[in-house]
Amino acid sequence: MRLEKKSPCKVNLLLNILGKRADGFHELETVMQPVNFCDELSFERGESGIQLSCSDKNLPVNSKNLVFRAAVDFLSAAKINDGVKINLEKKIPRAAGLGGGSGNAATTLLALNELFCQPLAIKKLCEIAAALGSDIPFFLQDKPALATGRGEKIQPLGNFSALNGKAFLLIHPGFGISTPWAYQNLARFPEALNGNAGRAKDLISKLQANDWPAVADGFYNSLEAPALEKFPILQLFQEFLRTNGALAALMSGSGSTTFAICENISAAESLAEKFKSKFGENCWTAVVPV
Ligand code: C5P
Repeated sequence: MRLEKKSPCKVNLLLNILGKRADGFHELETVMQPVNFCDELSFERGESGIQLSCSDKNLPVNSKNLVFRAAVDFLSAAKINDGVKINLEKKIPRAAGLGGGSGNAATTLLALNELFCQPLAIKKLCEIAAALGSDIPFFLQDKPALATGRGEKIQPLGNFSALNGKAFLLIHPGFGISTPWAYQNLARFPEALNGNAGRAKDLISKLQANDWPAVADGFYNSLEAPALEKFPILQLFQEFLRTNGALAALMSGSGSTTFAICENISAAESLAEKFKSKFGENCWTAVVPV
């Protein structure tokens, strides 16, 4: 049996850091929105061991890859001695703040559980996911969600009416930003490091009430403080997008992707064209319906 799965990405409509914890992680509240732009994975049982192949030859296919680590942890927790063959077709940019690698790991846990006839309960999959990375539990489900703690505590939400019919324009500038770097450099921005809790719930009620333009005012990302200082081009992207018709523009996660929310697909496509003629063809862009 061969299983084929799509592995979507996400944007953070809000990422509010509340302070640094004793364990070195940061306490946060974030509103995560699934985005239907996907990597593709296939899974087959094999004789023994884990054989991972990947379309992106720059990605490791050993224990440095989250897919490989998710497979190791799954097989060990489920006490399975058989091997697996996994292929990853990479489409989502890396170090992009889109959660591509995290989504791949979650998809791997769900797919292997299906391939081996559900030996693990979802609670156990959530534990494995949280130990592998803060963003991974979000991808075990497919709804928008409020995430708290270090990002691993997930409260799924219904679709936001403010985003009905809208479209995302995703823009990757051609360079990545390291997540540990972004968090470490927050220390120089005390206001961004120590946000007040409550912004997430506030934004969620505006998103549910379809309350524009208050929704756009509620979008916020603490990690923009270090990222936009080091890469001022990302600030220029946002200004350009807002001036040219985007309802909102923000950096996703720890960057480097900027996303814009547009009225509909055709508005997002024409904004993408304008953006490319202004900033050149080197940027990667994608238009995705919400
Ligand atoms: O959990 P994850 O592996 O995605 O985290 C990568 C790095 O990002 C951590 O090692 C830490 O430096 C930083 N981080 C953090 N606080 C969080 C999430 C991530 O400091 N809530």
